Amino acid sequence: MIATAGAEAEVVDYVSDVLPIMKTHCWDCHSNEKSVKGSLALDDVDEVRDYQIGKFNIIRPGNPAESGFLERLKLESNHTDFMPRKGDPLPKDELATIEKWIEHGAVIDATKPTEEEAKRLEEVKPAAAMNPAGGAKDGFHQWKNKAGKVIEAKMLSLDGESVKLILKTGVSYDVRLDDLSPESVTLARSLGGKE
Ligand code: HEC
Repeated sequence: MIATAGAEAEVVDYVSDVLPIMKTHCWDCHSNEKSVKGSLALDDVDEVRDYQIGKFNIIRPGNPAESGFLERLKLESNHTDFMPRKGDPLPKDELATIEKWIEHGAVIDATKPTEEEAKRLEEVKPAAAMNPAGGAKDGFHQWKNKAGKVIEAKMLSLDGESVKLILKTGVSYDVRLDDLSPESVTLARSLGGKE
């Protein structure tokens, strides 16, 4: 797991969490290393990203309940669509990891997300990182908007009535002070040097 903001703020990604599970249960039939059935090669991460998640959409980021991929793993083992074919059902904790992975945006590698994945990750992190006072680590603080959404970001600059914030994923935003909670406005002003 990739540790993000707080202790519980961990993002499940494919390469570190899901791939090892696939290697244990699916490799014989779904890897370039062994053989590829159903045109599904789980060791080709670009294919997983572009086709299983993208084009075919059997993995739906943020939506495990509608992901055919997970559905197959949860079927009764005598069902014709059940996977792993000829194998035992995956243990509950492994199913939970896959479910969490999809919920967290089905990101392939959280240390180097694509632009689109970075957007999905950013949806996850705030929910995981609820530490309103915001102990600053490496210049990162918790920022809250008026709607109550919290993100962890570093302030790059304060220009007039907006701040430029950058997330750990490298995505940056201009946010109007008007849209921030009073605490975050105070934080921006104190970091900007005009309390
Ligand atoms: C013994 C071989 C075997 C094993 C092991 C196996 N599968 Fe499959 N899988 C197949 C075959 C054959 C197909 C193609 C026929 C079908 O769709 O039923 C398939 C198809 C699929 C599909 C549908 C692909 C598509 O594009 O429609 C998914 C998803 C899938 N497998 C997932 C898995 C996962 C995940 C695992 C491991 C937990 C796994 N399978 C283990 C044989 C296997």
